[in-house]
Amino acid sequence: PHTAVIVVAAGSGQRLGAGVPKAFVGLDTHTVLRHALEGVFAAPAAQVVIVAPSDRVGDALTEARAVAGERHDLVTVVAGGLSRQESVAAGLQAVWPDVERVLVHDAARALTPPEVFARVIDALTDGKDAVLPVLPVVDTVKRVSGDRVREPIDRSELAAAQTPQGFRRTILDAAYAAASAEHTDDAALVQSTGTPVWTVPGDERSFKITTPGDLDRARALLAVAPV
Ligand code: CTP
Ligand code: MG
Repeated sequence: PHTAVIVVAAGSGQRLGAGVPKAFVGLDTHTVLRHALEGVFAAPAAQVVIVAPSDRVGDALTEARAVAGERHDLVTVVAGGLSRQESVAAGLQAVWPDVERVLVHDAARALTPPEVFARVIDALTDGKDAVLPVLPVVDTVKRVSGDRVREPIDRSELAAAQTPQGFRRTILDAAYAAASAEHTDDAALVQSTGTPVWTVPGDERSFKITTPGDLDRARALLAVAPV
């Protein structure tokens, strides 16, 4: 079955505060988006849809062509929306008719290794309709209200959600068509329509570049082991 990967890269990166959209921040000689696409193109994708800020569509296409090489026909670039959910919806509109499964990936998870894409695709091949890569939560977690600690939460019941998240295409389309509220990720949106979501192991290298400290971490990892 044909697989499309939607790479959402249309955010402004407010918390990073780099002065340019986060996907276009340099990690080494290459941008966040370029590194993210290296992982995406290692997967057996039939289409790669990049969702870029509306004034960066041309820049995104240039980055994608550099990574795709002879596979540049697989690349579609569209403009994003005001929220991540709107950006994913814009990407879904551009997915080709013959695509049967869709992975949605944050460009900000720039160092996600190819094995994670493989695990998600394998789980879809095994018949799961919605697949979420997760990591165990290592911190002790509390429920709080204001500065008052309410109760501890058993962390064995918790998992941190990552991307790429994978879905049978018809299910993701239906969930987005029915979406009324904003959800923080695609797994939450799909689960709200009653579809069970299954986990596969995530990877520490899939952390999301969100703050300046995360940017330092990504740059340090690249300096030690070029990706
Ligand atoms: N994203 C998007 N369109 C938006 C908002 C976010 O495509 N309107 C993408 C980002 O580009 C990123 C991913 O969703 O790859 C995860 O979002 P986040 O880390 O929150 O990125 P930003 O929204 O850019 O950062 P911030 O929230 O700090 O502004
Ligand atoms: Mg954001």
